[in-house]
Amino acid sequence: MEKTLLLIKPDVVARNKTGEILARVEKEGFAILGLKHLLLSPQEAELFYGIHRGKEFFEELIAFITSGPVIVCCLGRENAVRYLQEIVGDTNPSEAKPGTLRAIYGTDMHRNGVHIASPDENPSREVHFFFSTRELCS
Ligand code: CMP
Repeated sequence: MEKTLLLIKPDVVARNKTGEILARVEKEGFAILGLKHLLLSPQEAELFYGIHRGKEFFEELIAFITSGPVIVCCLGRENAVRYLQEIVGDTNPSEAKPGTLRAIYGTDMHRNGVHIASPDENPSREVHFFFSTRELCS
């Protein structure tokens, strides 16, 4: 079973939408292998989003993602990385297809509902940024 990471962003957690999102991913056939509720420090956020360091939106991204608690979730399924990308939709909520998580829960480019591991980067690094092997039940 392939593993991937889903992070529910602070504004969505504050709006009490976590349960809806977890229900949706379970309905889509994902198993929840690991789940944490945490507040990222600026240092942790800068490390996690290190690939974006130096981009013009980096500082705002770090300020937003550390503005309140997030939910991080390790999800397992066949073809998990690409399938999650399909149900989450475009990074920009205004470009996301109707019914995708970002179309439903996103507001703008920063408040885009959720972050997911990209197939072009390193999904395993993102999972293990938050979870040790023994924390992941399968
Ligand atoms: P996320 O999947 O969390 O990964 C990095 C985040 O940076 C992205 O979603 C957006 O919320 C945010 N962001 C802001 N501006 C941009 C941009 N121009 N391109 C990509 N991501 C951006």
